[in-house]
Amino acid sequence: MRKPIIAGNWKMNKNIKEALEFVKEVGTRADRDDVEAVICAPFLQLKDLKEATKGTKIKVGAQNMHYETSGAFTGEVSAEMLQEIAMDYVIIGHSERREYFGETNETVNKKVLKALQVGINPILCCGETLEQREAGVTKDHVKTQILAGLKDVTKEDLAKVVVAYEPIWAIGTGKTATAEQANDVISYIREVIASVYGDLANEVRIQYGGSVKPANVAEIMGQSDIDGALVGGASLKADDYVALVNFK
Ligand code: PGA
Repeated sequence: MRKPIIAGNWKMNKNIKEALEFVKEVGTRADRDDVEAVICAPFLQLKDLKEATKGTKIKVGAQNMHYETSGAFTGEVSAEMLQEIAMDYVIIGHSERREYFGETNETVNKKVLKALQVGINPILCCGETLEQREAGVTKDHVKTQILAGLKDVTKEDLAKVVVAYEPIWAIGTGKTATAEQANDVISYIREVIASVYGDLANEVRIQYGGSVKPANVAEIMGQSDIDGALVGGASLKADDYVALVNFK
């Protein structure tokens, strides 16, 4: 059985004070044994968040990292630095990173491998633009992203990777893919993973992301191949985050 994983992606929101208030407000209300709850916050908030979530079941993740250990990379943060503050997860290759910060399938792959090397679980993002969906190339595009992103990931490490399918046209737009549309691409992603890893693909958790909110999370999570959600906007309010994690 794949344990569902609900991860908040705060993006560039909340200062340290607000982050700590959020954790206080959530308390132990997002503690479920049958669902993994994660918060991915800006770098500066991570150490305090990790400390503040002790005594709860909430795990903490970063939203990016560099693939080199150290060196002349002004403005970057390494996987080892995240490991030092015991990060559980790191989002890799979010569409905003690909679009605004020049991330490619190659850098995404290097980051996935590096995160696994230091023992941080990567959340590998993929997804198509509206133009690609309308041109009917969604599956081809996602296949390329997934095969490139997972290149050289060993069979032993595969299940540590979480995949997030996020159609770009559904991110922050209020336009959710229908649960069936999301499930269709997600089952296809599992087939693509199976083409390389065989039955181990059944152990990989695949999330849907894009305008998930308390009102639609249950329908999304009710789909056969969807194992979680990566949630931006709706993860910023404590009560909504609690409702997302406690989907029925
Ligand atoms: P959204 O963002 O939930 O605000 O659409 C999702 C994401 O970008 O991870």
